[in-house]
Amino acid sequence: TEPLRVAIAGLGTVGAGVIRLLEANGSLITRRAGRSIEVVAVSARDRAKDRGIDISGLDWVDDPIELARHPRADVVVELVGGSDGPALALARAALGAGKSFVTANKAMIAHHGLELARAAEAHDAAMKFEAAVAGGVPVIKGLREGAAANEIARVYGILNGTCNYILSKMESEGSDFADVLAEAQALGYAEADPGFDIDGVDAAHKLSILASLAFGTSPSFGDVAIGGVRHVVAADIAEAAALGYRIRLIGIAEAGESGLFQRVHPYLIPMRHPLAHVQGSLNAVVAEGNYVGRLFFQGAGAGDGPTASAVVADLIDIARGEFGPPYAMPAESLAAQARADSGER
Ligand code: NDP
Ligand code: HSE
Repeated sequence: TEPLRVAIAGLGTVGAGVIRLLEANGSLITRRAGRSIEVVAVSARDRAKDRGIDISGLDWVDDPIELARHPRADVVVELVGGSDGPALALARAALGAGKSFVTANKAMIAHHGLELARAAEAHDAAMKFEAAVAGGVPVIKGLREGAAANEIARVYGILNGTCNYILSKMESEGSDFADVLAEAQALGYAEADPGFDIDGVDAAHKLSILASLAFGTSPSFGDVAIGGVRHVVAADIAEAAALGYRIRLIGIAEAGESGLFQRVHPYLIPMRHPLAHVQGSLNAVVAEGNYVGRLFFQGAGAGDGPTASAVVADLIDIARGEFGPPYAMPAESLAAQARADSGER
């Protein structure tokens, strides 16, 4: 059997993690995928940077757009980041060339997911983004496949590892906000601009993706009400603890009488609630389905290993020939639902 040939743009925390994982678990991945997954080409900004990975046998392509059309690649993996710019140009080029496409880029999917899904469907290509929400936690698959038969009433949870790490450490160790943020950056959890994390924007990107899957509608990031944790101080955390609560940054999407309600905000979570016990860089997502009941997904929400695990899971799906529509239903059906919802309001 032919290998699945992969081109990777972006060799930072996640990109290098993907190369390490494919190398370390290669033989079991081949058995599970039914064929080997072989990286053939890579791209990043600085060719000379020491990344702690061996890329000497791979084709280095300076221009990510050229990489997207690499003649030997079946799949293009985008791990550059940013909602527009090179990431979006690369996604359009790859799908336009009929390549399958995998990304961890929640900002891009939140803003352009529908357009890219249409392009994937038009070219019979796969497009997958498991790593874009909750790092290594298979919540996209959980909603798209596991809960596919259910009407979802609401989906909510802790969607940003950096903020949860900061809040947990401020509470358990009395650490200073700026010091723990610097630690989260050093551990590879934070976005290139950590303002996206601490101001709630990253969680809002992820919430809009979850909402689109849960409610079968276009991602509508512009409709998310957003607050962050930038101004949370030690006294807030102590006061919450004295009253039997923990502060957590929560994203919640629910279907209401006047349409879809989407909000990201620091919430006081009572100690009896499982979300109060999600610590460090873990993420957790709760989805309430009308037949399955309450689903609770939890695991590492950021970092190289967990995120690479989700990216490679998508590659394994593609190697097996799983080419269904990115949102489980045709993109046109999401757009129609969004039009119907906005007509209701
Ligand atoms: P990094 O900043 O560590 O890596 C980004 C990579 O992209 C680098 O290799 C960089 O090159 C390359 N790059 C940046 N700009 C360009 C450009 N203009 N042209 C070509 N290459 C470029 O980011 P992460 O690995 O942390 O994140 C990658 C994606 O994954 C983002 O979308 C992020 O939101 C998402 N993500 C990250 C998670 C995490 O825990 N870190 C978890 C889940 C998703 P160079 O190395 O040469 O500078
Ligand atoms: N910056 C993100 C976080 C990475 O901290 O959750 C994972 O998406």
